Amino acid sequence: MHIVTTPVARPLTAQERTERCAAPAFGTAFTEHMVSARWNPEQGWHDAELVPYGPLLLDPATVGLHYGQVVFEGLKAFRSHTGEVAVFRPDAHAERMRASARRLMMPEPPEELFLAAVDALVAQDQEWIPDDPGMSLYLRPILFASERTLALRPAREYRFLLVAFITEGYFGPAQRPVRVWVTDEYSRAAAGGTGAAKCAGNYAGSLLAQEEAQRKGCDQVVWLDPVERNWVEEMGGMNLFFVYEAGGSARLVTPPLTGSLLPGVTRDALLRLAPTLGVPVSEAPLSLEQWRADCASGAITEVFACGTAARISPVNEVSTKDGSWTIGAGAPAEGGVAAGEVTGRLSAALFGIQRGELPDSHSWMRPVSPARQSAIT
Ligand SMILES: Cc1ncc(COP(=O)(O)O)c(C=O)c1O
Repeated sequence: MHIVTTPVARPLTAQERTERCAAPAFGTAFTEHMVSARWNPEQGWHDAELVPYGPLLLDPATVGLHYGQVVFEGLKAFRSHTGEVAVFRPDAHAERMRASARRLMMPEPPEELFLAAVDALVAQDQEWIPDDPGMSLYLRPILFASERTLALRPAREYRFLLVAFITEGYFGPAQRPVRVWVTDEYSRAAAGGTGAAKCAGNYAGSLLAQEEAQRKGCDQVVWLDPVERNWVEEMGGMNLFFVYEAGGSARLVTPPLTGSLLPGVTRDALLRLAPTLGVPVSEAPLSLEQWRADCASGAITEVFACGTAARISPVNEVSTKDGSWTIGAGAPAEGGVAAGEVTGRLSAALFGIQRGELPDSHSWMRPVSPARQSAIT
């Protein structure tokens, strides 16, 4: 797909970029460019361009603003220790965006458009990515209904945008363990609903429970299944993994994709990676009571959450309306090791691939070079 490139007239200097990226709060340190493309039934996808990052002019009757035909993605580009930049599994994110679009009756952005947009933006703004191994470039593709109408039907015009920002981990630079709150009052998704799609409304609906979690002194909310309110599903923006036993007998369990949780790309990567490290995996339902009992008996030794933004974050404490419990050794002492042994091993393996320090035997990394940039401009 041809992307017409119109870069900023006066790029920021290296020093200005560094200042903008100093300890950036998540989703604030945006780079200087964005990609935009449009869709209508007559022309299909058209007007793909890379332009300076900036505000949009939207009609008040833009459908996406009213009826929520909005889906998005989140993926990352990393700078390797040798300086090259590569994007983690953009094809898998393109595929998920297509699935989300199908669920919301939107035109599916072709993989070719998605990848060309990623290549173009990362090539253009790659100098933003610091050498600091804890920092990466978070890419945010979004697709929304842009037709001007308030008719309640699938829109006939859409806009695809890609923006990017520099980020540390979601929970800050270190792999800080997180406390979670299990809500039994709110649901993130309904049976037959949009839980498996990465659509904007899922996140709006989760904010109240997230606020409740924070009021309870927790970092994140854990969602139970929406029908029985019994089975552990996922977190606000992360999937969950449970480590049973330890050492050579350690094995991983993660909730199955029931249709109400998001099929995480990191989750999928860990399901493939763990067995290569000698850790068997299974997708099996886990009830809240079983989670508590298996922590009490010591059968569960570690729990972690994973996602593009959060990377791999150990979970060390669970709170419910009926009480709290800790996992493994609980919170580490000041300066102590945050992640359990298996969590640490998986995290190092994944991060090693993303940073180009370990062989990419699954072909997950898509290198972005200045040469690729010149091919598409
Ligand atoms: C609700 C939810 N679950 C899980 C994830 C993890 O998915 P991924 O690993 O693709 O980032 C995310 C983040 O995208 C999310 O928003």
